[in-house]
Amino acid sequence: MANDKRRKKSNGTRVEGPVSRKPASEKVDALDAFREDGAETRLTTDQAVRINDDQNSLKAGPRGPSLLEDFILREKITHFDHERIPERAVHARGAAAHGVFHVYKPMGRLTRAAFLQDPAKKTPVFVRFSTVAGSRGSSDLARDVRGFAVKFYTDEGNFDLVGNNIPVFFIQDAVKFPDLVHAVKPEPHNEIPQAASAHDTFWDFISLMPESMHMIMWVMSDRAIPRSFRMMEGFGVHTFRLVNERGEARFVKFHWKPVLGVHSVLWDEALKISGKDPDFHRRDLWEAIEAGAFPEWELGVQVIEEKDENSFDFDLLDPTKLVPEEMVPVQRIGRLTLNRNPDNFFAETEQVAFHPGHLVPGIDFTNDPLLQGRLFSYTDTQLTRLGGPNFHEIPINRPVAPVHNNQRDGLMRQTINVARAAYHPNSIGGGCPVQAGRREGGFVSHPVGINAPKVRQRGEKFFDHFSQATLFWMSQSDPEKDHIVSALQFELGKLERPEIRERMVGMLTLVDEGLATRVGEGLGVKPQRPDGLLNLSVPADGDPKAYQPRRAKAPTRPSPALSMANTVKDTAKTRKVAILAADGVDEAAVATMSRLLTSAGAVPKVIAPRLGLLRGAHGGAVKVDMSLATVGSVLFDAVYLPGGPQSAATLEEDAGAVLFVREAFKHCKALAATGAGAELLPEGRSADQAILVGEDTQVAKLAPDFILAIARHRNWGREAAGRRVPA
Ligand code: HEM
Repeated sequence: MANDKRRKKSNGTRVEGPVSRKPASEKVDALDAFREDGAETRLTTDQAVRINDDQNSLKAGPRGPSLLEDFILREKITHFDHERIPERAVHARGAAAHGVFHVYKPMGRLTRAAFLQDPAKKTPVFVRFSTVAGSRGSSDLARDVRGFAVKFYTDEGNFDLVGNNIPVFFIQDAVKFPDLVHAVKPEPHNEIPQAASAHDTFWDFISLMPESMHMIMWVMSDRAIPRSFRMMEGFGVHTFRLVNERGEARFVKFHWKPVLGVHSVLWDEALKISGKDPDFHRRDLWEAIEAGAFPEWELGVQVIEEKDENSFDFDLLDPTKLVPEEMVPVQRIGRLTLNRNPDNFFAETEQVAFHPGHLVPGIDFTNDPLLQGRLFSYTDTQLTRLGGPNFHEIPINRPVAPVHNNQRDGLMRQTINVARAAYHPNSIGGGCPVQAGRREGGFVSHPVGINAPKVRQRGEKFFDHFSQATLFWMSQSDPEKDHIVSALQFELGKLERPEIRERMVGMLTLVDEGLATRVGEGLGVKPQRPDGLLNLSVPADGDPKAYQPRRAKAPTRPSPALSMANTVKDTAKTRKVAILAADGVDEAAVATMSRLLTSAGAVPKVIAPRLGLLRGAHGGAVKVDMSLATVGSVLFDAVYLPGGPQSAATLEEDAGAVLFVREAFKHCKALAATGAGAELLPEGRSADQAILVGEDTQVAKLAPDFILAIARHRNWGREAAGRRVPA
C-alpha cells in the first residue's frame, strides 16, 4: 500500500520512496492502492514467502550444480524473462506526466460534457508525449512529429484527445497508414536508419503521395525539432463535434497552446543533443515538474456551425487541411497543468492506452476517413501490446468513474464480478446494470443523416493538396524558410536513388517554385514540374479531372498563426543558462548573475573543466554543477561568461570551452560576458542584441537585458555569421 513519505529504515538511514508530494488529483489518489515502495519491509517471493538468501542459488554443495527445486531462483528468473512487452507500433518513444485540467467558464452552449462546465472542477489528466518513428530507445531529438496524447479522467468516463504537435497529417484515409509507417520505419533489409525519415523508402512514398505535401512542409520545419515538450502546440487534427444538452451539434478543432510559447532548436543542435543527451525532452519535462515549474497549456477550440460545413475551399473532413486561425479564431476555454511525474515508467507511461474513440457525452466524431480508421486501430493493437482484453483494468487506464457492464473474464482479469447475471436483459440481477437514459448521462451518438452509395472514394475538395502547403510556406519568417530549405536538402541529400530526389524536388514546384529552386540548388537538381501526378483515387465511373491532385486557388495572404516567429516570447522561466567558469573566476559576478537569473525563473548552472569547488578571484569559492566533459552548450538556452582573468585564460586554452561558446554563438543563443569573460566571445562578431558585454561590477545592470534576450529564445539575425563559425 502507499506510503507517501520518505521514510527511515530501521537502521536509521534514509530510503528513497515516493517523495512527500501533494496528491495531484483524484486519479493520483486512486493509484495509491497500487503503489508499493518496499520501505521497512522484508524481501519476499511473489507468493509472499520471506526470502532468507537472495545472493546464492540452491546447489548440491558449495561447488555443485544448481537444483531445479530452487523455486526462488526459478520465480525470479521467469519473471525477468517476461519483463519486456512489445513496444508501440508507432509512438514507441515517449514520456508522460500527471496533471489537472479546468475549464474557464461553463461551456453548456456548445457541449454537455460535464468536465467542461464547472470552473471549480479539476479533472485529472495523464499526458504522454512521443516521437512517432523511432524505437523506445531512440533519441528525443529525431526530426519527427510529436504525439500529444491527453487522457481526461472525467466523472463521466475517460476522454482521450490523442493528438499531435502538428495540425495536419500525411494521409487522408486510414487505409494508407500501414504504407506510411512501413515507408518511414527503418528499411527492412538492414533496419537503417533509426528514428529518421532521411532515407529512400520514406521519400519514395512521399514523392508519390501529393496529399502529404502540406504535412511535409510542417515536418521539414522546426516544429519537428521542438526545444521542449513544454514548448509545443498540440492539435486534435481531425474535426470533431461538440453536442450540447439540446442535441445541437457544431464542428470543432481542438488546440493546445503552450503558455511558454512554441520554440524549437536548430537541426545542428538536434544532431548534437542526440549524442550529448538523447533523453533531452524526457529529462526537461521531468526536471521542470520536479522543480515545481509546472508545464501549462490552454485548451483552444475553433467552433464551426453545421450550416457552414461546406463554406470552405477545403473539406472539414480532410485531415491534411487546417482551418486557418484568421478565418475561425481559437477560443481559449481551459487550462492544463502537469504537476506530478509518474512513480514508475513502465506501470504508467508504458502501460497507458490511449484511444481516439474514448469519448464522453457531448463530444462526437465526424466522418473524417482517417479518424474512422483510427477508431479501429488502437484497441486492436493494444490487445497485443498489453496482452489481452482487460488492459482497461491496469491502474493507469482505469477511469475514476465506476465501470459496470457484462464484459467478463479473459486474460489477467482483475475484477471479481459477483453478480450471477452477466447478460442483459436479466431478472436475476434486477435488470442491472441498467441502461442510462440521455438525461442520466447515457452516451447518444449524434444522429448524422446518411443516404449515400457504398463507394471507395473521397470528397472532391480533398484533391487540392497544395494550397495549404503553399499557405504554410508563405506564412513562415525568413529564418523559418531557410530551415525548411536546409531540412529538405539534408533529407533528400541522404537518398541513394537520384530519381526519388528529382521527383521530390519536382513535387515541391507545386508548393512554391522558389522553394523548389532553393532546395534543388543544394542537391544539384534542376526542378522539373511533374507532367502529371500519380493519382490512384479516381473512381471507376468518376471524371478524372475532378479527382486530379491540384491547387485550387493560390493563397494570397499569409496566416501569421502558422509562424513560430509570432509566438509568446515574454519569459525566461525554466530556461537553462550555463555559467562557464574555471579557477580564478569572479565569484561575486557569478553569485549576482545566478541570483538574478533564478529570480527570473531561469535555471543557472556553473560549468567548469572539473567538478568540485572553484577558487574565486577574491578568495571565495564557487560550486561547480557540471563538468565540461559531460555537457555541451546545446543543452542550454544561454551562456554567461563571468570575469576573472585567470578563469578566462584557462578556458581560452580549453578546446571544450571554446567549442562551448562557439556553438552557443552559432546557435543564435543569448550570450553575456563580463570583465575578462568577454575574451572568450568569438572574434569579428558584429552588433548583436543577444550578446551583452560589460564589467564584472555591472552584472546587475546587464542581467535584465540578458534575461530579455533569453526570453526571445534566439537571435536568428546572427545565423549567417554563425554559419562561418567552425563548430
Ligand atoms: C489511420 C491513421 C492512424 C493509425 C492507424 C494509428 C495507429 C496508431 C497505433 C497503432 C498506435 C500505437 C498505440 C498503442 O500501442 O497504444 C498509435 C499511437 C498514437 N497515435 Fe496514431 N494512428 C493513426 C493516426 C494518427 C493521427 C492522425 C494522430 C494524431 C492526430 C495520431 C496520434 C497518435 C498518438 C499521439 C499516439 C501515441 C499514444 C500514446 O502516447 O500512447 N495517430 N497510433
